[in-house]
Amino acid sequence: MSRSPHATTVAPFPLTRLRRTRASAALRDLVRENSLEASDLIWPVFVVEGTSVEQDIPSMPGVTRKSIDKLVEAAREAADLGIPAICIFPYTDPARKTETCEEAWNPDNLSNRAIRAVKAAVPEIAVMTDIALDPYNANGHDGIVRNGEILNDETVEALVKMALAQAEAGADILGPSDMMDGRIGAIRRAIEAEGHRNLAIMSYTAKYASAFYGPFRDAVGASGALKGDKKTYQMDPANTDEAMRLVERDLAEGADMIMVKPGMPYLDICQRVKDTFGVPTFAYQVSGEYAMIMAASENGWVDGDRVMEESLMAFKRAGCNGILTYFAPRMARLLGQS
Ligand code: PBG
Repeated sequence: MSRSPHATTVAPFPLTRLRRTRASAALRDLVRENSLEASDLIWPVFVVEGTSVEQDIPSMPGVTRKSIDKLVEAAREAADLGIPAICIFPYTDPARKTETCEEAWNPDNLSNRAIRAVKAAVPEIAVMTDIALDPYNANGHDGIVRNGEILNDETVEALVKMALAQAEAGADILGPSDMMDGRIGAIRRAIEAEGHRNLAIMSYTAKYASAFYGPFRDAVGASGALKGDKKTYQMDPANTDEAMRLVERDLAEGADMIMVKPGMPYLDICQRVKDTFGVPTFAYQVSGEYAMIMAASENGWVDGDRVMEESLMAFKRAGCNGILTYFAPRMARLLGQS
């Protein structure tokens, strides 16, 4: 992102014709202000038990839940396409979901086995995790629930155990997505104490209580389980200043990278975070955004490739360093062709 600190003076027509620099592809290439590359992309992937399994997710056409062997193949492909990171989300067997969520810090849970397998086979790709209790919680919430209340401090203790198990499994980037208070500091202190000096934290800092997560909850099998909504911990879509306070807080607690989520409806937040703090800033183009673009393009109502590219360029224009997107391999392939 480049922005002149001074307002530019535009000479009157015809001295200035702004169409001159749009008149040919060569000139357009020269004056282009932002670029989109495979190295800007993080690919969220869903993992499921079994071997040679690839299950379609009806609300996310083109996205599948993959068994670990298939996930490893996909990670190889992603690395070869120049995608620097994948982010692993597990589909947990409902029988393993409890009110106390202990499967979340089982060193051999599906997610931790997937991290180990990917790091063993494709060491150059960075593996990002999700830290939140919802895949393991009988009631679908990101935190421990008692008497209808989502408990903050007890949840943070559980998240620390979860983070340490992921660190042991070989994760490169921890992604706390739970929105409890104090979790970044608690996780940072715990991983430092265990000697994980270079383990990065990308905090889901400004995560909104959004209806755009619907298809994701189908993908991880949380839709049926969730009782109520997440409004006591995820942000109110009406707020901006609160996002700035969260960013300041997470940076002070030891976050390396900041995420805004969802993406397209919150580009103003991305831009304000980047302009205010100048820190590595990421957006998550979430499942509902993906589903909308896919549905429209499958109906022939929009050009899928072009809308995909334009939607991702918007994040770069807003100042994001990168984007988590289900389009990652498709976008990387398209960029490879041009
Ligand atoms: C869960 C989590 C969610 C997403 C990522 N991590 C869903 C939620 O908060 O309910 C959503 C991602 C997407 O919609 O693509 N902690």
